[in-house]
Amino acid sequence: MEKQEKPILVTRSSMPSFEEFTEMIRPIWDSAWLTNMGEYHQELERQLKEYMKTDNLVLFVNGHMALEMVIQAMELTGEVITTPFTFASTTHAIVRNGLTPVFCDIDPVNYTMDPDKIEALITDKTSAIIPVHVYGNFCDVERIEQIAKKHNLKVIYDAAHTFGAEYKGKSAAAYGDASIYSFHATKVFNTIEGGAVAFGEPWMGHRLNCLKNFGIVDQEHVVWVGGNAKMNEFQAAMGICNLRHVDGEIEKRRHVAERYLEHLEGVKGLKLPSYDNPDWKPNYAYFPVVFDGFVAGRDLVWDYLASHKIYSRKYFYPLTNEFQCYQGRFSGEQTPVAKYVADRVLTLPMYADLAMEDVDRICGLLKEIK
Ligand SMILES: Cc1ncc(COP(=O)(O)O)c(C=O)c1O
Repeated sequence: MEKQEKPILVTRSSMPSFEEFTEMIRPIWDSAWLTNMGEYHQELERQLKEYMKTDNLVLFVNGHMALEMVIQAMELTGEVITTPFTFASTTHAIVRNGLTPVFCDIDPVNYTMDPDKIEALITDKTSAIIPVHVYGNFCDVERIEQIAKKHNLKVIYDAAHTFGAEYKGKSAAAYGDASIYSFHATKVFNTIEGGAVAFGEPWMGHRLNCLKNFGIVDQEHVVWVGGNAKMNEFQAAMGICNLRHVDGEIEKRRHVAERYLEHLEGVKGLKLPSYDNPDWKPNYAYFPVVFDGFVAGRDLVWDYLASHKIYSRKYFYPLTNEFQCYQGRFSGEQTPVAKYVADRVLTLPMYADLAMEDVDRICGLLKEIK
């Protein structure tokens, strides 16, 4: 009988042991305090500030609501320069705030916003730049800061992929006016669902805390048109457990990335991640490969791996400016480099517990494609 192949998904959540989590949640039963900024919420916020080396951080129910609400808190208007090479959330958060995204093309090397192309997009309606540290690769934060200062624009980084990564010894929280994180189950650090905003100006904390709780300031005063985006106690408990292990999980991811590189370096037509930059401490969140001049096109590679139950991901494809919901408004033709990459990229399975034999098998299959 033929040996059954075990499916390998593109990601797998990092989790504490069952015992660690159940011990952690027992006090939630004792107190019957399930949400609304309980003890675990406060404790996780404190620990994350320490981990990210920031004084200002507010937790959210997920990364998307963190982004929607920081845009609202900053009272942005008109146009926002952003990237289409991202997850739906970045563009949707801008549009759902009644603003117009203006798409800037990306740098072909690290896939983040190309700083040389930003200034040509600035008009008298531009109020902010929202770049994305894609795959945990830092944007050119120095150039973006210079441009923003010169034109008096706010900068909010979508740092959803960036937990644990650093640039020049600082976490993403140190750059821009604010940064949003996602703690979704698929991220390097997760709270099941979850997110946060890190920000520079302390006054923002009060506003963000009110916005995520319906704009309520106190029992008799509702000052902002807020929503409900509070992190609950179970999410925070998961976060406290996972934070104990996250550095070890990143280290395990590093081994996976190195094993991929050992196999795939030198294979014609593959553009692989490069970890050479001495200013950058990567978090190995994803393992993106651009198939450019490879024996087969990206879609065929996806199909071939899937036929062996290995599920890679076309991440990011399509570009957000090519989404059906934006048809007639935006187009990928405005961002040719992003379109080129989106048509050729696959993220291969990457998670802390991915076995070396599985990496070997994935690479063996890639190399046998004719
Ligand atoms: C780049 C980017 N921005 C924003 C988000 C939204 O985060 P969340 O899923 O926590 O709402 C994600 C999430 O997956 C993302 O990849």
